[in-house]
Amino acid sequence: MNSKAYKMFSVEGKVIIITGGAGFLGMQYAKALFDAGAKVVLWDKSEPNFSGKNNFYNVIDITDENAVQKATQIVASNFGKIDVLINNAAMNPAVGSNEAKQMFTPYDKYSLDSWEKELKVNLTGMLICIQAVAPIMKKQRSGIIVNIASEFANFAADNRIYLEKESEEEKCKSIGYIVAKHGVIGLTRTFAGDLGKYGIRVNAFSPGGMPRPEIPEEFRKKYSDLNMLGRMAEVGEYNGAILFLCSEASSFMTGEQIVMNAGRNAWR
Ligand SMILES: NC(=O)c1ccc[n+]([C@@H]2O[C@H](COP(=O)([O-])OP(=O)(O)OC[C@H]3O[C@@H](n4cnc5c(N)ncnc54)[C@H](O)[C@@H]3O)[C@@H](O)[C@H]2O)c1
Repeated sequence: MNSKAYKMFSVEGKVIIITGGAGFLGMQYAKALFDAGAKVVLWDKSEPNFSGKNNFYNVIDITDENAVQKATQIVASNFGKIDVLINNAAMNPAVGSNEAKQMFTPYDKYSLDSWEKELKVNLTGMLICIQAVAPIMKKQRSGIIVNIASEFANFAADNRIYLEKESEEEKCKSIGYIVAKHGVIGLTRTFAGDLGKYGIRVNAFSPGGMPRPEIPEEFRKKYSDLNMLGRMAEVGEYNGAILFLCSEASSFMTGEQIVMNAGRNAWR
């Protein structure tokens, strides 16, 4: 690669925290950034299964403000800086899983307990992590925050694809998830406005569906029919967007959102 272009996308030596880093997508971002020379720190409530040499993790719940503050201080004192925070952790039950069976209910029957849990992890948790890391980035007068939203930050779910059988009671993509993801865009814009004067950029990444192996084939097919490429995303396809947002290649971008969902937005 031409060396100027390569430098533009470089994350070499950057200290990058990924929340939910032990999950399906978090692990893909972690591996890609680690391979590109970043010092990757994973925060997750579960222990990650990550065998790189230069990786660090902290088992924490991102909704626990004290734990997040402490974990932030550990990263700052171990590495002397925090370059990037990727806010990726979320409750995101896979279609067909037991958790989804509880949460994908018709909206008039959706429990307040599920609502509070989903908003707490998917939105409040993100706020807590930004509030912990921002003072350090302000002192540095540099930093990048990437908030992982979803295509569902931009539209409601077409719940017809979540029906398992036509006769069965309606199944709906969780309303708490969709509302929280719309909120992530608001959080992104407001913090971008607040932190821009310190040289800190805040953007959102809104991916479409990347199926885990356990996803029912029927769902995969129905989902694929909704976008212009007629398929779901493949493993690794979001790493380029993450590299762009975490590097100087996106130096004039803040308060914005990258949507990557094979044209589903353009068809709406
Ligand atoms: N997979 C997709 O197709 C898809 C599509 C659009 C958006 N997203 C978004 O991408 C992100 C990652 O999704 P995923 O599919 O990898 O999900 P995942 O469930 O595999 O990963 C989420 C991770 O977050 C962690 N987590 C959950 N609650 C936590 C808490 N309170 N504290 C700390 N860690 C916590 C989980 O332990 C898990 O490791 C989410 O924000 C999700 O909404 C995913």
